[in-house]
Amino acid sequence: MSILLSLFLLQAAPVAAPNAMPGEEIVEPYTVDNRNAGAVPFTGDGMAKAFHGQDGIRRIVDRMVDTNFADPVIGEIFANQDKVRLKRTIFEQFCYILNAGCSYTGRDMATAHKDMGVQKADMNRLVEVLQGAMTAEDVDFQAQNRFLSKLAPMRREVLQK
Ligand code: HEM
Repeated sequence: MSILLSLFLLQAAPVAAPNAMPGEEIVEPYTVDNRNAGAVPFTGDGMAKAFHGQDGIRRIVDRMVDTNFADPVIGEIFANQDKVRLKRTIFEQFCYILNAGCSYTGRDMATAHKDMGVQKADMNRLVEVLQGAMTAEDVDFQAQNRFLSKLAPMRREVLQK
């Protein structure tokens, strides 16, 4: 095989994502960039503390993702998606935005939700599920609302156009 052809194949082939956990499915290649997280992180350590650091963020994300998959309203959208990857990438995104010491290595919000058909009601349900997970972790309401305000502008990337 010519060197050029092998280089082409190498580039075109899907590769395991950076930070991938065992059990994750392979995704199409994309450029890793913290800006894919879709929000500028908070400064200082106040928000990280309010969410009880990386351990708290991990508990919130695990609970949120498990609830999403089991949910009667939005569970259908999550069925057959890669839960292992989702837990990792959403953890990274939240941890990055909360300035709790992570980089985000997932896809940007428009790419991740393309052609998924997400409607306003699905978005509202997901926010309710996230609120429930933050409340279960005893995150105070002021910190919850500051975080939700950071996520709010992402709606337009996630909703089906
Ligand atoms: C502001 C709101 C939202 C944020 C911040 C968010 C965040 C994310 C992130 C970080 C990923 C992973 C990207 C990757 O793996 O590269 C993702 C994927 C996904 N999201 Fe969202 N999301 C939001 C809203 C929603 C809503 C409302 C739904 C459906 C009800 C949804 C369903 C999904 C699904 C099914 C995937 C998996 C896509 C795949 O693996 O191909 N998301 N989201």
